[in-house]
Amino acid sequence: MQTSKLAAICSLEDLQKVSYLTRAILFKKQPTSALVFWLDGQAYSYVNHCMHMHRPLNGEQDAIFDETGRYLRCSMHGFIFEPTTGECQSPVCLGQRLQSLRLQVLDGVVYFSEKHLQLRDEL
Ligand code: FES
Repeated sequence: MQTSKLAAICSLEDLQKVSYLTRAILFKKQPTSALVFWLDGQAYSYVNHCMHMHRPLNGEQDAIFDETGRYLRCSMHGFIFEPTTGECQSPVCLGQRLQSLRLQVLDGVVYFSEKHLQLRDEL
């Protein structure tokens, strides 16, 4: 069995203090960024790329949740996504999903656990 490489993101305590954070990554050799957030007792991460017009979810606004905190929301045109699956709930992209990224939490530290992911230096 091939094991995934772990890349440290932050402490679990720090993740629980913020609405979300971003990390610059190389995923499948493409430079992009990841969204990481804590919701209802679990850490989630997605590639920060809305399939509608290929923009980051937080491109227009420093936020990724709608006003209810129930859904992820792309700040460009307002499409919403189920935060636990990344599935789009808006008609144009209904059923399409954000690319999820596997995480692991070990000894109070949150890690990416993806074979094809490397952290990049933040700009
Ligand atoms: S680019 Fe995300 S809703 Fe249009």
